[in-house]
Amino acid sequence: MSHVLLITSSPRGADSLSTRFATEIAEHIKQRKHGTLTVRDLATSPVPHITPAYIDGRNAAPDSRTAEQAQAVALAQQLIDELKTADVIVLGSGMINFGPSSQLKAWFDHVTWPGVTFSYGSGGPQGLLSGKKVYLVVATGGVFSAGPYASFDFQTGYLLHLLAFIGLGDVELVRVEGTAFGPDAVKAAIANAESAVQTLLGKAA
Ligand SMILES: Cc1cc2nc3c(=O)[nH]c(=O)nc-3n(C[C@H](O)[C@H](O)[C@H](O)COP(=O)(O)O)c2cc1C
Repeated sequence: MSHVLLITSSPRGADSLSTRFATEIAEHIKQRKHGTLTVRDLATSPVPHITPAYIDGRNAAPDSRTAEQAQAVALAQQLIDELKTADVIVLGSGMINFGPSSQLKAWFDHVTWPGVTFSYGSGGPQGLLSGKKVYLVVATGGVFSAGPYASFDFQTGYLLHLLAFIGLGDVELVRVEGTAFGPDAVKAAIANAESAVQTLLGKAA
């Protein structure tokens, strides 16, 4: 039995390619492992931006939090519990202005919590989540895996950095890229991503 957490975050709804491939991966793993699946769709159910209630509430002792602080912290705790109970995490992210969507950024701002998902010790930062496999699907209009625009990609490095920072360093990356260059490019990007997903899922069997 394996528990899969699927996190989607594209604001493009049914057109989203990161959602499409992340969903395919999550469904496949769930079925193959006779597992269970939790879906956290950050586009249709956005996590709010963090507020003073969240920041101060996080630092306050649980029994001294105001009602507003307790509510803000409870949401973050729920999102972290979803990560903790998952064996496999599948994350879909579509590039918006060279980074991840603000919906996904807001989610990271909740789950990146000192003392809960990361800490700093004498050896530097330590991620406090462990033992989980992550599949990260990034979709982009441009091509960033190589070529002159590689340095414009502030999405992939940021996501890989933050995932590793909270202890999720075992990541398989799938890119759906180059869809901005017309219908043939879209077809090629989808075919390449499909082939990469099949290879990954075959490897994971
Ligand atoms: C508002 C908006 C901003 C975008 N910004 C960029 C960008 O900066 N660079 C890029 O390569 N593609 C950009 N794109 C294209 C998306 O990254 C592309 O459509 C990708 O497939 C989105 O992911 P999704 O299919 O999961 O929704 C943008 C798309 C939208 C709607």
